[in-house]
Amino acid sequence: MDTLEPTRSTSTHNAALRFLSRSDIASLGGDRSDLYMEAIEDGFRLHAAGEYAQPLKPYLRSRHCGHIADRIIAMPAWIGGDDPVAGLKWIGSKHDNPTLRSRERASALIVLNDDETHFPVAVLEAGRISALRTAAVTGVAARYLARTAFPAVAVIGCGPIGRTQIQMFCEQFPDVRRIRLFDLKRDAALAAAEWIGGAYPKVEPVVCEQPQEAVSGADVVVTATVTDRPYLKFEWLRPGTFLANVSIMDVEKAVFLKADKVVVDDWDQCNREKKVINQLVEEGSFSRERLHAEIGEIVVGARPGRESEDEIILLNPMGMAIDDIACARAILRRAEAADVGAMLELFG
Ligand SMILES: NC(=O)c1ccc[n+]([C@@H]2O[C@H](COP(=O)([O-])OP(=O)(O)OC[C@H]3O[C@@H](n4cnc5c(N)ncnc54)[C@H](O)[C@@H]3O)[C@@H](O)[C@H]2O)c1
Repeated sequence: MDTLEPTRSTSTHNAALRFLSRSDIASLGGDRSDLYMEAIEDGFRLHAAGEYAQPLKPYLRSRHCGHIADRIIAMPAWIGGDDPVAGLKWIGSKHDNPTLRSRERASALIVLNDDETHFPVAVLEAGRISALRTAAVTGVAARYLARTAFPAVAVIGCGPIGRTQIQMFCEQFPDVRRIRLFDLKRDAALAAAEWIGGAYPKVEPVVCEQPQEAVSGADVVVTATVTDRPYLKFEWLRPGTFLANVSIMDVEKAVFLKADKVVVDDWDQCNREKKVINQLVEEGSFSRERLHAEIGEIVVGARPGRESEDEIILLNPMGMAIDDIACARAILRRAEAADVGAMLELFG
């Protein structure tokens, strides 16, 4: 038998995938936070129900990767529910892209695979998806963990991730009146303040000289830096603060030990790679038992969210592949309905 001839059951016809550029995605509403808030909450519910598969993500580092933010991460996941799909986010990061190359630090693609055939069905540019899904993780968590009608947010680190968090707060939380900004590069904080003034005139940007000044005046705090040295002290947090530790390495160990509640997205994903939680676990001072909850458990009501006005609650969101796949699925379904994007034949 000629092994090069496809058999009847291995047809190469109709194998095509949809490519969605950043502007295609924006045209589908993928440049606003609403779509992501909904998809992320769905993803958290699937996580709580165990309706997912999500192997630990490998960090690819070459010998040129000297900085903590120099890496390419592969993030595969399958999500179940009514519309199961699998996929992979492949996200590169070079810390000096903004300063040396005028490019974004992070760049990403998402590949989605059909649940039945496992054939790839879509490729999406995912730099914006990644930033908006990260903001939506904070946003969904804030609905359960922040005080209601909070007016003041602090954002430490004013790059694309910090700005997208601000976009989400301004779009989703109408009571937000002030955004307190700190960046080691004052120009980045000033540029963010100018952008807020133009895009969200009802919100007052306040540029701070020190991180403590930003943090201690806020109800909700977000870190979005590229530091590998914790600096954020428990004493800076006022009672009732919700702190979303998006950039993971900013918060001192004492905050994990003294906060009223520590919440993660996924314990196994968080407790690795020498991140602060992982260091605490290895030292014997933190454990799965001391964790209040994974966020999905709170979303489905299996664990409580905020229970008093004064609680200090720390969210450590390592970032899950199921976040990306849930958002990419929602975008793909809109693209199919509106026939947006370029169809690429797999076999020519
Ligand atoms: N947890 C998640 O799911 C998730 C997802 C995406 C990105 N991130 C993280 O978000 C972070 C920010 O990403 P980005 O693309 O905006 O990076 P970026 O490098 O483009 O911007 C970072 C900004 O932070 C500032 N900065 C650096 N160190 C600082 C410090 N110690 N104090 C104050 N400001 C500081 C820089 O000057 C810069 O303006 C990264 O660490 C990234 O890994 C987390």
